[in-house]
Amino acid sequence: MAVRLSLFIVALKKRGIKLGKIAVVPGSFDPITNGHLDIINRGASIFGEVFVVVLNNSSKNPLFSVEERMQLIIDATSHLPNVKVQTFSGLLIDYVESVNASVIIRGLRAVSDFEYEMQITSMNRVLNDKIETFFIMTKNQYSFLSSSIVKEVARYGGKIEELVPSHVERALKEKYNTY
Ligand code: PNS
Repeated sequence: MAVRLSLFIVALKKRGIKLGKIAVVPGSFDPITNGHLDIINRGASIFGEVFVVVLNNSSKNPLFSVEERMQLIIDATSHLPNVKVQTFSGLLIDYVESVNASVIIRGLRAVSDFEYEMQITSMNRVLNDKIETFFIMTKNQYSFLSSSIVKEVARYGGKIEELVPSHVERALKEKYNTY
């Protein structure tokens, strides 16, 4: 079934036809990395509309404010006309329902992501079993990449130019005063 769906999506993509559905790419995005961007780019080439949503109820202590994170994503996705950037406080499923989306897109980097992703996907399915979660495998060169690891390197003035868009690199250098 899953293979048939993948083949169907490949056939549609070859013809330049997108699935006419709204998909949501949720996350903390503190800040957006090239790995996130890879997933958003590929999601936007498959689905009619993609809403990137910055979830505002994380227990993490973010480096960037929600507004800063949204602006960094807006600047990184300005080449994608079918991508909108929003924020939400509360359950992801409530946001997905509020924008009439039917799909959640998550990136998978390595086996280590699987357990956490399975947990949140299963929880979301309990909350609403009509919403499907699509997993997109991150490109190999980003399989180790996370916002946390980028911040760790940036804090000590390390090289991050291949890991994040240039405006994000500038924003990180300003935050950490590492110019
Ligand atoms: O980028 P992240 O931190 O991996 O994203 C995780 C996120 C924000 C998608 C997840 O924590 C989430 O969906 N939070 C909203 C709260 C929610 O809906 N919880 C129920 C499902 S676990």
